[in-house]
Formats: sequence, C-alpha cells, structure tokens
Amino acid sequence: MNAEEWKRSLSETVEGFKSAIEKVEIENIEALETEYLGRKGRLTFLLRELKNFSVEERKELGKVGNRAKKEISEKLEEKRTDFEAKCARGDDRKPDFDFSLDGKPFPKGALHPITIVLGKITKSLLRLGFSVAQGPCLESEFYNFEALNIPQYHPSRDMQDTFYINLSNGSGMLLRTHTSPVQIRTMEKSRPPLRIISPGRVFRRDAVDASHSFVFHQIEGLYVDRKVSMADLKWTLETFIKDLFGEELRIRFRPSYFPFVEPGAEVDISCLFCGGKNAKCPVCKGGGWIEMLGAGLVHPNVFKNVGYEDGKWQGFAFGAGIERFAMLLFGIKDMRLFYENDVRVLKQFSGVEP
Ligand code: PHE
Repeated sequence: MNAEEWKRSLSETVEGFKSAIEKVEIENIEALETEYLGRKGRLTFLLRELKNFSVEERKELGKVGNRAKKEISEKLEEKRTDFEAKCARGDDRKPDFDFSLDGKPFPKGALHPITIVLGKITKSLLRLGFSVAQGPCLESEFYNFEALNIPQYHPSRDMQDTFYINLSNGSGMLLRTHTSPVQIRTMEKSRPPLRIISPGRVFRRDAVDASHSFVFHQIEGLYVDRKVSMADLKWTLETFIKDLFGEELRIRFRPSYFPFVEPGAEVDISCLFCGGKNAKCPVCKGGGWIEMLGAGLVHPNVFKNVGYEDGKWQGFAFGAGIERFAMLLFGIKDMRLFYENDVRVLKQFSGVEP
C-alpha cells in the first residue's frame, strides 16, 4: 500500500464510521467502537500499517491518522452522552407498550367462607376473655379418646371412627376426630383459671354427601375455674351465637351424652328460616330448632386424667362444627361447595369481613 492508497483507505474508513454512528442504537455503540478502535479495528489496522512507510511519510500520514482517531473518539463520546441524557429522560427508545391502554384487571381475592365464620366466632369469644390454643391434626389415641374418658372398648368410640396411621415405631396414631384433645393438651400444660378456644380441622370416616365430609372444622371451647356452672356455659354460648346470627335468636339445651362431660347437652338454635312456623321448612323440618353443637361440664375423670386436684375445679366445654354455622349464615345447602374450590362460589365472598 502506498501513501495515496493509505490516505484513500483512511478517508473511506472515516466516512464509513460517520454513516455508522448516525444510525447506531444504544445497544450497538460498544460494538461500533470495537469495529473501528479495537485491537483488530479498522483504524487500528491502518495506523499499524504506518511502520511500513518512510520516516517522512510516516510523519505526515501519522498526523492525519491521529486526527481521524481523535475525531472518531470524540464522536463516540458525544453519542454516549447523548444516549445517557435520553435514558435519563426515559425516551431512549420506542416504549414497549401503549401507556394509554386499559390496565389488566387484578381481581381481589376473597376469604373462604369457613375462614370468615371461624374469624367471626373467634372474634366474639376473644372479647369474652378466651384465647386461642392449637393442637395437632395427627393425634394419639390417648389425647383423642382415653384422656377424654373414652376407653378403648367403649361403644362411644364407634360414633367417631377415623383414619388410623401405623407408625414404623409401632405406635398407633390417628387423625383427630374432634378438637377436644386440645382440652387435654391445654390442661396438661397450664393450671386454672383458663379460658381457651381451639379452632381446627377434624376427620371422620364418613362418606361424602350434602351434610357429611371426611374432613371438616370445629371450634372447641374450654373454661376451667373454681366455680363454673351450666349458667356460665349457656350465657357464653348465647353471647357468641347472637353475635353471629342476631339478637332475636333463642337457644335451648337438650340432655345428651359425651363421655368427657357431665351433664352433657346438645345445643339447638331457633330456626332462622321459618322461626318454627313452617311445617315443611327444609332446614328445621318444621321442628323450629336446629342442632348446633355439643357441650357440657367437664367430667371429673377428665380432671383426674390431667392431674388436677379432685373436687377443686369446675369447667365447661363445648365443640361446634364450623361448616354448620357457615351453611346457616350464608344459606349454603350443600357442604361439598366448601371444598370444591369453585371460584363462582368463592368469589361471592369477596369483601365479606370476618
Ligand atoms: N367433641 C364433641 C364432638 O365432636 C363435641 C363436644 C365438645 C361435646 C365439648 C361436649 C363438649 O362431637
């Protein structure tokens, strides 16, 4: 390459650079710099060629070559500053989307009806001085039955058949059939006076239909002190049930049997739908009363089983099915709706507060 050819080549290089820098995008500026000024760059190549020229020629060509290098560097710098300013203003490129379009709807979730009702009952009972206790779903036979005065061969176990789990260490465990084992766990850990409620999941070996499920929810209540009577029990239940369903509601106790209470009662509420006036009412079947929960005064054997002094303490306990309450409160006729996760059902509870 002679001096003339070198000069032509240089001006072609500079021209090439000028048209490239006009069109360059922010993400390509690095590559453009490398293309011209990099170790194997076009201009670098030409400048390296200078060693093949005479001292005189080298002086002259070197001057033009360095001027071209300076020009290219400056233009690159200018462009960078330009891009930075645009980025800072946020208008460096076409926006990816149209800001004027409507936003995508972001639907608000809803609490599950069971959660809502549990929340309502809990709120009401916390106001009365109860606090929340919790126990495991996988229980021992001792806590679920024996300590609650239900011995192994007692026929009342049949009322609550469940799923047994055989652990490798040979001990039998089961899925708790009620929240009552939390009574025992609480009394073992603490001394009276105590007032606890315990919401949670329970299990029975029941076939699924509109009013049965193999897993459902209960809330347990336990109050132990020196003097606790059926009157305290009745007032407590009446208070929280009226909080839920309204003041006009009446409750009644019917004698019933649970091995861990004496006396024991089944608690009914007056029918919310017909008030007992409709002989064909599908909810109360014309009887005017709806069975809601089991309750009673803590059996002396239960106190004995947790090591409380004989004769010193009295207490009441109750256990209520949450689904029952939710069905009545929201007018749901089939329990299966609670477990099927059908959004058409669940979204109707959006905005309902516990
Ligand atoms: N645990 C009983 C049941 O599930 C209900 C209950 C609780 C009854 C506490 C009396 C006292 O059927």
